[in-house]
Amino acid sequence: MGRGVYISRAVALTCGVVAAGAVAAIVALSVLYSQEKWRNGSAPTAAPSPSTPSSTSPPAPQRPWQRHRLPDSLAPVSYNVSLWPRLEPDARGLYVFSGSSTVTFRCVKATDLILIHASELNLTAYDGKHARLSGVAGATAPALEKTWLEAPTQYLVIQLSGPLRPGSSYQLSTEFTGELSDDLGGFYRSEYWEDGVKRVLATTQMQPTDARKAFPCFDEPAMKAVFHMTLTHPTDTVALSNSMNYDPVKVTVDGHSLIQTSFEPTELMSTYLLAFIVCDFAYIGSEPGDKVLIRIWARKKAIDEGQGAYALEKTGPVLAFFEAYYKSPYPLTKSDQIALPDFSAGAMENWGLITYRETSLLYNPAMSSNKDKEWVMTVISHELAHMWFGNLVTTRWWNDLWLNEGFATYVSYLGANYAEPAWNMKDLIVLREIMDVMAVDALASSHPLSSKEEDVLTPEQINELFDSITYSKGAAVLRMLSEFITEAVFSQGLHTYLEEFKYKNTVYTDLWKHLQMAVDGAGIELPQSVEDIMNRWILQMGFPLVTIDTQTGSVTQRHFLLNPDSVVSTSSEFNYEWFVPITWIKNGGAKQQHWLLEKEAVNKDMALGASDWLLANIDMKGFYRVNYDVGNWERLLAKLGSQHEDIPVINRAQIIDDAFNLARAEVVDTTLALRTTRFLDREVEYLPWQAASSNLHYFFLMFDRSEVYGPMQAYIKKQVTPLFNYYKDLTLNWTKTPENHTDQFNQVNAISLACGAGVEECTNLTSAWFKEWMENPETNTISPNLRSTVYCSAIAAGGEEQWDFAWSTYQNATIASEAEKLMGALSCTREPWLLNRYLEYSLDPTKIRKQDASFTITAIASNPVGQPLAWDFIRAKWDFIFNDYGGEGLSFGRLIDGVTRRFSTEFEYKQLLQFKEDHAAQLGSATAALEQALERARTNMHWVNMNREPVLEWFTGEASSL
Ligand SMILES: *[C@@H]1O[C@H](CO)[C@@H](O)[C@H](O)[C@H]1NC(C)=O
Ligand SMILES: *[C@@H]1O[C@H](CO)[C@@H](O)[C@H](O)[C@H]1NC(C)=O
Ligand SMILES: *[C@@H]1O[C@H](CO)[C@@H](O)[C@H](O)[C@H]1NC(C)=O
Ligand SMILES: *[C@@H]1O[C@H](CO)[C@@H](O)[C@H](O)[C@H]1NC(C)=O
Ligand SMILES: [Zn+2]
Repeated sequence: MGRGVYISRAVALTCGVVAAGAVAAIVALSVLYSQEKWRNGSAPTAAPSPSTPSSTSPPAPQRPWQRHRLPDSLAPVSYNVSLWPRLEPDARGLYVFSGSSTVTFRCVKATDLILIHASELNLTAYDGKHARLSGVAGATAPALEKTWLEAPTQYLVIQLSGPLRPGSSYQLSTEFTGELSDDLGGFYRSEYWEDGVKRVLATTQMQPTDARKAFPCFDEPAMKAVFHMTLTHPTDTVALSNSMNYDPVKVTVDGHSLIQTSFEPTELMSTYLLAFIVCDFAYIGSEPGDKVLIRIWARKKAIDEGQGAYALEKTGPVLAFFEAYYKSPYPLTKSDQIALPDFSAGAMENWGLITYRETSLLYNPAMSSNKDKEWVMTVISHELAHMWFGNLVTTRWWNDLWLNEGFATYVSYLGANYAEPAWNMKDLIVLREIMDVMAVDALASSHPLSSKEEDVLTPEQINELFDSITYSKGAAVLRMLSEFITEAVFSQGLHTYLEEFKYKNTVYTDLWKHLQMAVDGAGIELPQSVEDIMNRWILQMGFPLVTIDTQTGSVTQRHFLLNPDSVVSTSSEFNYEWFVPITWIKNGGAKQQHWLLEKEAVNKDMALGASDWLLANIDMKGFYRVNYDVGNWERLLAKLGSQHEDIPVINRAQIIDDAFNLARAEVVDTTLALRTTRFLDREVEYLPWQAASSNLHYFFLMFDRSEVYGPMQAYIKKQVTPLFNYYKDLTLNWTKTPENHTDQFNQVNAISLACGAGVEECTNLTSAWFKEWMENPETNTISPNLRSTVYCSAIAAGGEEQWDFAWSTYQNATIASEAEKLMGALSCTREPWLLNRYLEYSLDPTKIRKQDASFTITAIASNPVGQPLAWDFIRAKWDFIFNDYGGEGLSFGRLIDGVTRRFSTEFEYKQLLQFKEDHAAQLGSATAALEQALERARTNMHWVNMNREPVLEWFTGEASSL
């Protein structure tokens, strides 16, 4: 799936400094917003069932139907599924679908029990039984003795009067109805307005465990089968599914004139990758003669406006890239991609019919920012990568989700880099994934990438895996691996892996085996096998801090924890030691490598002369942080101060990020970290600025209500003014958009930081732009890249008038990305009553779509004025949120994470503990997030006590040296 709904605490770190005085919330927020969006490609968080909190494992149940895993006695071969979604409510006001399904399965081991997943379906009974069974090819089917739905494990249980015979095949038929609800899971409906008419469409989201809500099926990824789909639907709609349709036929059912569309049999595939949609959308497609039919589907209006053009233009090149990278042709004959008005994740890689949130697929040059464009590019690339890795070859069970998602996340940057070579996507992965997730993985509450199969059983446990560790750390360690075995060898290993396992299932060691073969074939020398090296990174949580003493050449490692007092309760069979591929340069010379295989080693080449400097982890290819002896830190700082270009741009960002994190962990002084930002007054590159802005954001969260605030703002103003002026020149007085993708991003930093720090020229500029727009609502001349920032500033500086203008513009917005920007900016107001009203709106689905509720609340909480309001709000409404929003794509974890970010006092900590007690039975997927929030609050308390004085002194000193 395209990125989990999870929101990492890292999001907080990436927020951007912005905040100035009252404007504090603002800029931070707008940057938060875009980060949030980045993360928003989310997984649906399943409705947690209060009866089975995922943290407690009940005693091993005795009866097969009480176990969450299917027995291995039966194997599906094919399904014939026919579904008829009603796009209008029935007499009861319910939207329903009806259907029938026949599954052909083979008996592998003798059994008198059939377990097949079915959830929330009303099955038709024949003679009191919920299904019919027949033998295939002469096999005799035993009679059905008893059938029932076992709700806790979501099975249809069928007890037979006699055994099924191994080697024989049978057919099980069911008829059923289900609700086509708006819960964003299984077969569900989405609604939108077009030309004043409400439209309803039916669509699906099966991953991970909701195919069983659409029809009875063996709903585990290893239960691959061939699917024959038929959809019955109104004459003015079109039906889509994984494979190509046959010509639709007219039918009359119950007096309704309808059409019926059948589809070619699918490839052998997993249930979670199924998709079927009935809608009245339009599409733009590739040329008829092309080898693979590519179509981009969306609301008619969006297609008419050309919003699908960018996706269409890039899909072909990305598919071509992956064909070459995997050395394997695209496995299907068509690639449909569709943008849905209601969608809980960012996108979903259904094989041949990829579903997207509108903002993940549609692009409007006049309205969308370059960040929107980059998001579309990387999500498309991520999903297309899955067409082979994940879909053609599928991991056997959800415990290996990290491999599937980490891989797709890593290679999405390669595909995007191919399709948009000028964007530096291979560098941007460091900002977009790696730095963020290092902050998460440095907590004692982190977890290993790889889970044991038996620890991931329930839908809640599966859903919890869709987090930033799975996506981003997975990507980071695979990037590191591909660096030390080389990209060409990595790609060769993928090729043979895909060849051996196509249409089958794997465990992660199968990939290691193929990569090892490629390594051996290429004659690459590694100090240990691929498996032994990688086990260190995937079987234990966290990552090492590598310390290099350039006086002696000593190199050591230890588990890096952001909170120095935290206690790691889980032991690791590797004792929290890693095999670390350390790359380094001396005085800007050639890159060298040192494999650190023990806790300590000495590398005489790393012992330096008095004026030499050493830099390690070049381009941040390794998943570790680096500390040096004080002398080397000083020489690195001196180099940054004199010729910062001698240090690679990613490492300029890395030095900042490492130093700030080491300071958080009390490994180096906080003032050393602050000193890594001094050279920024001559820096114009995006990566270092973004790293600084993200790290300083923490200072704003902790200090924006204290006496540190003034001197801190003065320092930032001093540092950012040259950047602001640089952009003023580059854009010819703000009349031109910079050409470079990363320059465009850094222009946003320049404006948000300068306005936030109170650079008057900046605030005058943004106020004037917004005013002009309010006076001419039809012609918004604010550059799309800058809109989030400008809207946010203006709404913060303004009052009800500005808010209401933005709200009505939001409600009438036809472009999802524009709507999102306004939705974020609305939380920037400093009026408590407006914020409270907005909180109320957030849980009113007629005002804010359910999919956006948690974003809205989180955004309000990131505003210092909104923070206490949002916390009170979710505490007061928790029962309602939990019961009404549980299954609707709202992540409780994200909500808790978002509203507790500033917590840094004993009082707040106690409130959080109280919340945990009060709602112990109603935490569901927020359980882990709540523990993390508690840990974070403690860490913050400690940090503020330690650092308030020195930080105040440092900023004051810098500000007075103006
Ligand atoms: C399924 O049956 C229950 C109980 O009779 C009923 O309340 C529900 O509305 C039915 N669902 C559908 C989709 O018909
Ligand atoms: C920008 O504006 C200033 C003052 O209004 C003017 O002096 C300068 O020439 C302008 N620069 C460009 C590139 O237009
Ligand atoms: C624009 O980006 C390219 C690479 O993406 C970089 O080499 C170049 O220096 C950038 N130009 C400017 C003006 O920063
Ligand atoms: C900003 O606007 C104010 C009020 O219009 C004006 O007095 C001030 O000179 C402007 N400042 C700058 C730097 O343009
Ligand atoms: Zn994915």
